[in-house]
Amino acid sequence: MKKKKQQLINSIAEPYRNTADPQCEFFGSCGGCLFQDISYENQLLLKKDYLNGIFKDVLEIENVHPSIEYGYRNRMDYVAAFGKRGLRKRGFFKEVIDITKCPLLQNESSKVWQEARQISENLNDYNFIVHKGILRYIVLRQSYFKKETMCNFVLNEYNDECVQALEKINADSKSIIIHSGLADLSFGEVERNIKNGFITEEFDGIKFRIYPNSFFQSNSECALNVYRKIADASFGNLLDLYCGVGSISLFAAQKAEQVTGVEIVQEAVNAANENKELNNIINTEFICADALDYMKTKRNQFDCVVLDPPRSGVHPKVYKYLSELNPKRIIYMSCNPSAFKEEIQYLPDYKISSFEAFDMFPQTPHIETLAVLDRK
Ligand SMILES: C[S@@+](CC[C@H](N)C(=O)[O-])C[C@H]1O[C@@H](n2cnc3c(N)ncnc32)[C@H](O)[C@@H]1O
Repeated sequence: MKKKKQQLINSIAEPYRNTADPQCEFFGSCGGCLFQDISYENQLLLKKDYLNGIFKDVLEIENVHPSIEYGYRNRMDYVAAFGKRGLRKRGFFKEVIDITKCPLLQNESSKVWQEARQISENLNDYNFIVHKGILRYIVLRQSYFKKETMCNFVLNEYNDECVQALEKINADSKSIIIHSGLADLSFGEVERNIKNGFITEEFDGIKFRIYPNSFFQSNSECALNVYRKIADASFGNLLDLYCGVGSISLFAAQKAEQVTGVEIVQEAVNAANENKELNNIINTEFICADALDYMKTKRNQFDCVVLDPPRSGVHPKVYKYLSELNPKRIIYMSCNPSAFKEEIQYLPDYKISSFEAFDMFPQTPHIETLAVLDRK
């Protein structure tokens, strides 16, 4: 998180501190979450204050939709380094603290973590300062509604001992991922699936396969609430830019006539097509392209555009083509409200018809918003 944003959040959070007992023994030393000493009611209030500060000359929100306070996370990327297995120390990116249990992670994958920690104890881990060693990350994932678990080892290079260790872990899907670059990443090339290679999530009867490298929303309970609202606001010919594994596209396909999903990662597009087949959905197509390149050359007319960009937001040039496209409605799902606020300037021909905030990330300063903008 940027230093300025961190300072702003700290100052808003200050009056609410010490209104709850942290549930995690590592709270304070772990960099993972910052709000466990604030009661959940107060977390929602301070997130409301934070958003009303950002949007003060544009709109006012009355409440933030709550979610599950603990045990909501679909994913945790545990670092393996310096003989430790855990998360980064608060304020010290180069230090790792041993984490036996994270209360944000869902129950079933927490059990997998207990096992993975023990089994990986003696494996040669990766020193990310001198760039030597093998095991870099242990990634736990889980589908909230289907309760399927995934455990992946991210290795600097292929290693038999690590494969044998992963074989012993009890999870529904297990994969060896190789990332040998210097960049500190918890994804890479899937070298080998030891079991399955995917897990399945289900939203209101629609199934999604999640692969080791695929993005999927971190909090399924909250994401489903947002998706239902997106589907309710969808109509006609719909474009879903930044579609990932097609979860919004396939969900909105119930309400829209035709859906086109655009995504830059080929593995995600393959998964989106598989998800389409899995659900027998015929009014949707997926295209692998950079959002900007697609917008430059698009041939279709769209009534409605869904934007769910990465944290950095939508590139200003995409707006140039979006305004030429001139859809009746833009539905913007954002995990970065400040970026969305900045981007409103590129949409002078649209008015905000509705704006809602969702607590996708309880115990942390992050927040998700959903705006529906209609052509004036
Ligand atoms: C926040 S995720 C949203 C995924 C999806 N809408 C969902 O709900 O699961 C953003 C997605 O944008 C994709 N992406 C990032 N940059 C992109 C670009 N320039 N063009 C197209 N897709 C991009 C990422 O790979 C990622 O899948």
